[in-house]
Amino acid sequence: MWPYPKILAHRGGGTLAPENTLAGIRCGLAHGFHAIEFDVMLSSDGVPILMHDDVLGRTVAGSGAIAALAADRLLQMDAGAWFAPQFAGERIPAFADVIAFCKRNAIWMNVEIKPAPGFERETGRVAAKMVQDLFRPEISARAGAAALPLLSSFSFDALQAAQRQAPEIPRGFLLDRIPLDWQIKLEELGAVALHTNQQHLTPELAQAVKTAGYGLFCYTVNDVARAREIMAWGVDGFCTDRIDIIGPRFAES
Ligand code: G3P
Ligand code: MG
Repeated sequence: MWPYPKILAHRGGGTLAPENTLAGIRCGLAHGFHAIEFDVMLSSDGVPILMHDDVLGRTVAGSGAIAALAADRLLQMDAGAWFAPQFAGERIPAFADVIAFCKRNAIWMNVEIKPAPGFERETGRVAAKMVQDLFRPEISARAGAAALPLLSSFSFDALQAAQRQAPEIPRGFLLDRIPLDWQIKLEELGAVALHTNQQHLTPELAQAVKTAGYGLFCYTVNDVARAREIMAWGVDGFCTDRIDIIGPRFAES
């Protein structure tokens, strides 16, 4: 039900490095993480890049919508200086470059499709197509489930578009709070897993998801005691910002 790594570095390197950058992913690697979560959004010309916020201002200087800027501009922009001076010059990475880096370093990916408002379907379609194109050998070889990234999104429409484009790439539906109709939604999406906010999870809900045969993944777990608690409820895996205190082998300890 969860053939994937159990502990993921959130946004690449958690809170130890600038999120959604190659420096962040390298930081995760330096802490032993060969499994990460990150966010993918589209530029105005439809190029998938790593980005969480749909506006400039927090991790990239400036103002205005990410979706209004073309890739050639976005890929020149500094996504590291906000975090610490030593990361100045770290750029917004292209999704394709991140996939290449992860493949070279045997890093498994949970790709969160993070569409800017109004671009849900297109972002889902393009992200899924890129994974489909860059994982052709794994798809053809019918390699094990963990040989492919897991797509996830809070956007039902984005995941549905991903499903139509690349049904063979697995999907997880992200839900901040698990609603009553969760199982219908997962069935409609052909999802393999439910991803949810650990803060709102209860043992009963965890049991219901597991009993129904789905993977259960939580974000974002930064406390050791809480991590042990939810894993005892049957949670399969989670992402963490605190890669310094929750290591990649935490689930085995
Ligand atoms: O994919 C889990 C988690 O990253 C969802 O929330 O806002 O950190 O992207 P956010
Ligand atoms: Mg995310």
